Amino acid sequence: MRTKYLYMNTIGCQMNVYDSDQIARCLKSLHYEMTPSLERADLIIVNTCAIRKKAEQKVFSFLGRLAGLKRKRPDLIIAVGGCVAQQEGAKILQRLPHLDLVFGTHAIDRLPDAVQTIAAKKCRIVDIQMADQIKEPDFIANGCDGKHVTRFVTIMQGCDNYCTYCVVPYVRGRESSRRPENIIQEIRQFVDSGVREVTLLGQNVNSYGKKENLCTFVELLRRINDIESLLRIRFTTSHPKDLSPELILAFNDLDKLCHHIHLPIQSGSNRVLKMMNRKYTREIYLEKIEKLRNICPRIAVTTDIIVGFPGETRTDFEKTLELMRTVEFDGLFAFQYSDRPNAAAVGLPGRISEQEKKERLQEVLDLQDYFTTRKNKALKGSIQTVLVEGLSKKQNRVNYSDKSHRLQWTGRTSTNKIVNFFESDGVDGGDKIMMGRLVDVKISKAFSHSLWGKTDSKEPTDVGLRGEKSYVT
Ligand code: SAH
Ligand code: SF4
Ligand code: F3S
Repeated sequence: MRTKYLYMNTIGCQMNVYDSDQIARCLKSLHYEMTPSLERADLIIVNTCAIRKKAEQKVFSFLGRLAGLKRKRPDLIIAVGGCVAQQEGAKILQRLPHLDLVFGTHAIDRLPDAVQTIAAKKCRIVDIQMADQIKEPDFIANGCDGKHVTRFVTIMQGCDNYCTYCVVPYVRGRESSRRPENIIQEIRQFVDSGVREVTLLGQNVNSYGKKENLCTFVELLRRINDIESLLRIRFTTSHPKDLSPELILAFNDLDKLCHHIHLPIQSGSNRVLKMMNRKYTREIYLEKIEKLRNICPRIAVTTDIIVGFPGETRTDFEKTLELMRTVEFDGLFAFQYSDRPNAAAVGLPGRISEQEKKERLQEVLDLQDYFTTRKNKALKGSIQTVLVEGLSKKQNRVNYSDKSHRLQWTGRTSTNKIVNFFESDGVDGGDKIMMGRLVDVKISKAFSHSLWGKTDSKEPTDVGLRGEKSYVT
């Protein structure tokens, strides 16, 4: 069978990145290879995100631009998957006549059949059927291509929390966890192909396994911590209401668990948190941060904030800024509230104007910029252990044949800070296998989103996290 080409555009969160890997993998059975060229593609898939209106608009503007290609090449198959596909279903085919397939978040394993049917019968298909139980893919361990140091691993699907602003429970379905042995098998396969760090994904990892009576999340972490040659474990997202004392202790007990937690607060006002159905107060949140810092003093804390939730007064908003000053986050993602179909907040009174939301967002970003820059500057002169992920983007643009040019590498600290660096011993060093190694880097420059330095020792230090360094010289 002739090789066919698949172009994939992935929009949205890490779960979509993981799903896109699954999609690419399952389409290999139909001899589809990835291509970065739209013109060359026989199949175009857009894996979509519905979290905010802007993400959805991005999807439709990309899909709209494909009409011309389809006119020129009627055999081209155009498919929409992911969260917008789940949300809109057949309406997308009505709106865009040049599309062939809409497949939802639970339809990935049925995708090869759908593509084959469309190719043979020239029909159009919508598959947005959902299941309450997560289906274990029979093609686990994607992307074992020896090119990756770090990979995402979805450990659970869906969400049962129904925060009033959020579309996820509607587009990803009920919460359901994968079996631990399958997760571990997948990670082992990754590690065999050179992966050294995994990020475990779930909308609320702390409730992992509860419904199905599997092991707890911390027990799962323990088992993953035992996997030989794996160096680092990360996870996202932990819901503040469910962050347990056991998980807090794990930051001290498990040597491979990175010293970073993403703990979305959303708002610093208890009134707004209640309207959001978040089920914790700012006091509970602050108490948990304190416990985390007591157990693991160097832990980096990042968060998500929504500004302009319906009914958010200036006083509510100032409580968010005040909480930011109390916690001093290492970084954050901030968003303007966006109405989502089905979400309960759509009906709430007290709409905030777009202009006001924009201004509040800017205030949050400016304040955070101050903390991020200050924290990064404090690392100048320190030695940081970095897991090398590859050549930095800047490096990818330089001419490798110039042997006098030093390679610039990129990686992250355990606290999730990006570090770009040169090897101190110098020229080229291209034959040294750096990827997937832990190296000590002396930080000499601090920017708002990254650090820069040179390796501190000639030889990479293959040590577990316990041996990782973060000190000021
Ligand atoms: N499960 C994660 C969040 C996933 S969505 C959790 O509970 O923390 C990622 C972030 O998008 C959320 O934390 C929230 O800050 C933001 N978000 C979700 N819905 C939104 C909406 N309707 N408008 C603006 N931001 C939203
Ligand atoms: Fe959305 Fe809340 Fe579930 Fe996170 S916990 S995915 S914000 S409903
Ligand atoms: Fe977006 Fe779906 Fe993720 S809505 S944030 S791609 S779960």
